[in-house]
Amino acid sequence: MAATADRVLISSERIQQKVLEMAAQIDADYKDGPIYLISILKGAFIFVADLARALKRPSVRIEFMGISSYSREKTSSGQVKVTRDLDVNIEGCDVLIVEDIVDSGVTLSYLRRLLEQRKPKSLEIATLLDKPERRIQPVNVKYVGFRIPDEFVVGYGLDYAEDYRNLSDIRVLSQLPSSPNPE
Ligand code: IMP
Ligand code: MG
Repeated sequence: MAATADRVLISSERIQQKVLEMAAQIDADYKDGPIYLISILKGAFIFVADLARALKRPSVRIEFMGISSYSREKTSSGQVKVTRDLDVNIEGCDVLIVEDIVDSGVTLSYLRRLLEQRKPKSLEIATLLDKPERRIQPVNVKYVGFRIPDEFVVGYGLDYAEDYRNLSDIRVLSQLPSSPNPE
């Protein structure tokens, strides 16, 4: 069955407005000094690009990590693996993980535990989207753009089988052939 992404859930105008609001809140919360935005590949690449440009503080550093997770349909344990690690030392730094979406929470709760061990000065999470109904593992997320219902969404960096990342709005994917395999 072919998948389609015709139904716009969040327009690009609403996304851009929300990104400005989130950036203003982050600027207000972190007083001085550099902030490290750790973006999770690949889904968060557009969000981090817009968020970074909306921040007004002088020092914004952008780093990337690759994480692969298996959907709960595939394994009950929710295995997570680092496929690309940071090449900077974050000890003593203000660190903000930037994610596209929190779904089961497995990826972010794993990543938070991993990065805590590296002793950052602070560690928080910013996500554009949150699907709270799907949560299996609780995770403390400080900045949430939009809470959305339990539907598979694409666009603005989010993919289905590597397609649709380039859409500038967020759309609901319908007629899924089978359960999606998150990156
Ligand atoms: P987790 O289930 O919270 O660990 O989320 C793992 C990853 O699944 C997210 O970072 C996304 O890359 C992907 N994902 C979860 N829900 C969606 C969705 O609705 N659309 C596209 N990707 C998703
Ligand atoms: Mg992701």
